[in-house]
Amino acid sequence: MEEEFSNHSNNETFEEVLNSYMSRRQMIVGGLAGAALSFMGGSKVSALDAKPTSGAALAKRAKIGFTSIPMQASAMPTIAPEYDYSVLIPWREKLDGSGKSFDYAGFTAEDQAKSIGIGHDGICYFGDNKKGMLCINHEYGTTPHIMGKAVPASLDDVKLSQTAHGVSVVMIENTKTGWKMVKSTNNRRIHGNTAVKFSGPAAKSDMLVNPAGNPMQGTLNNCANGETPWGTYLTCEENFNGYFGTNDKAWKPNTDQARYGLSAAGFGYEWHKFDARFDLSNAGYVNEINRFGWVVEIDPNNPKQVPVKRTALGRIKHEGATVVEGKDGRAVVYMGDDERFDYVYKFVSKDSWKKMIAAGKSPLDEGTLYVAKYNDNGTGEWLELSTKNPLLAGWSIEKILIQTRSAADAVGATKMDRPEWVAAGPGGNMYVTLTNNTQRGTVGKASVNSANPTAVNSNGHIIRWKDANKHIGTTFNWEIFVLANNVKDAGGQMFGSPDGIWVDPDGRVFVQTDGTQPGGSNDQMLVADPVTREFKRLFTGVKGCEVTGVATTPDRKTMFVNLQHPGDGSPAVTNFPEFFIGASGPVPRDCTIVITRNNGGIIGS
Ligand code: FEO
Ligand code: CA
Ligand code: CA
Repeated sequence: MEEEFSNHSNNETFEEVLNSYMSRRQMIVGGLAGAALSFMGGSKVSALDAKPTSGAALAKRAKIGFTSIPMQASAMPTIAPEYDYSVLIPWREKLDGSGKSFDYAGFTAEDQAKSIGIGHDGICYFGDNKKGMLCINHEYGTTPHIMGKAVPASLDDVKLSQTAHGVSVVMIENTKTGWKMVKSTNNRRIHGNTAVKFSGPAAKSDMLVNPAGNPMQGTLNNCANGETPWGTYLTCEENFNGYFGTNDKAWKPNTDQARYGLSAAGFGYEWHKFDARFDLSNAGYVNEINRFGWVVEIDPNNPKQVPVKRTALGRIKHEGATVVEGKDGRAVVYMGDDERFDYVYKFVSKDSWKKMIAAGKSPLDEGTLYVAKYNDNGTGEWLELSTKNPLLAGWSIEKILIQTRSAADAVGATKMDRPEWVAAGPGGNMYVTLTNNTQRGTVGKASVNSANPTAVNSNGHIIRWKDANKHIGTTFNWEIFVLANNVKDAGGQMFGSPDGIWVDPDGRVFVQTDGTQPGGSNDQMLVADPVTREFKRLFTGVKGCEVTGVATTPDRKTMFVNLQHPGDGSPAVTNFPEFFIGASGPVPRDCTIVITRNNGGIIGS
């Protein structure tokens, strides 16, 4: 689901910044050996808390005590010998808590609305160590995977596809036979046709109204997620453009549409052939596209709540929305826009989230949106995206929030290598995964440079930074946490394409991958030491899958992660979660994996 890049602004790419910084460093330190590891020493970035410390401090830190496993390429997952895994809520499992699933053959949209969706991705657990609500994103499923045909042949097929996307909200419990979905009046599906509403500064914009007068409906391509301190779930709409298309040969994207990657063919879903909402040349639905690309808030404990699209957080290809409490109790939300050469954003609420909630306001409706600029000396700036910024003279706040990418172009944000998840670590240290950017150097941008040997960044990297003024400041110090190319063990390079990332309260950095791995191995989850930057491999997925999403129980003794698109949907590759028997076996099902430690310890220890 990678796309052509759509940012044609003249803003500096991150590679340009990095190359400039690294060449300067080279002159200073006089050599490139161990460039990734030596990157932070002696510069302004050493203000970060996680710089290497003394032997005594190192010894006291939390251990990553498990046996790192080798990469593999099998049809079944593997896990470190000190750990176990089990399967929870596969695609098509009924929401009624019976443990039964609808059959693949004859599966309908009506069945799908009453069962777990496909494309398990971001995940959040709201509960105690035994029982609670699980919210889980269903990013996407291809038509061949969902219904065994290349393209939809009817509106019923399209509705099945639309209903397989979205979010599941289900109660789970650790029973005598392990974690299971249980019956609850809170269990619900939210999908491509569910009623939604808009809130915040752009909610009443004409740009969200269609001549057809159709109601606000649906959430799509729900990739990563967030969790608010007031107990709600945030689901993030990423590659929404791919569901729109047209048969009209005369149709051409306008500037705004091009900036979000719209094309006549879309990603091949062909919904537009049977559902006018997704037809780009249908004048009645001209603004339907603007209704996607948002962060959507869901109450896991109120099945009647209408999901709310929070316009103050901007419209981009939202990867995730990581919420921390900043100075004065403000809600601060960090967000990546996953496209080659796109940006990292943050939102700061106007006031303390507690005060705003007490006053009946959403902390996600009033505040300031920023986009990141990385300077070549290891500092950075958060550039304000509001009508107060002189570089946005003539822009309305509605336009800034709906055409956010273009606003960020105008203020001079730094083009990044596909910003994915953001994680918050102890001490205010933030991490963002930059999954890869295979077009680096091929689009007239930064060229190969001795200070940065990965000019065509096919394996990605991770940046760590710290904002001034306890998350609400407009400056920050940043460093490269790792370049994936440089992370090695006895088996060679350990991973590529970092995507999911989570930092536990002890500082362990969990990294999940989505994309090509060294040697063509399966996607995986690793755990890294924040100080030494040593990685261990905890879990590997099945062939053709992505490992994504991470949540734990409060005691951190149970972790939930997801296997998305096992075998890319082909039973010839894997039948997971069933044992592999080959193409005659069952179609593989996306599912959640429950990870526990054999000695009952904390996950990652
Ligand atoms: Fe849906 Fe950027 O991963
Ligand atoms: Ca992702
Ligand atoms: Ca991904």
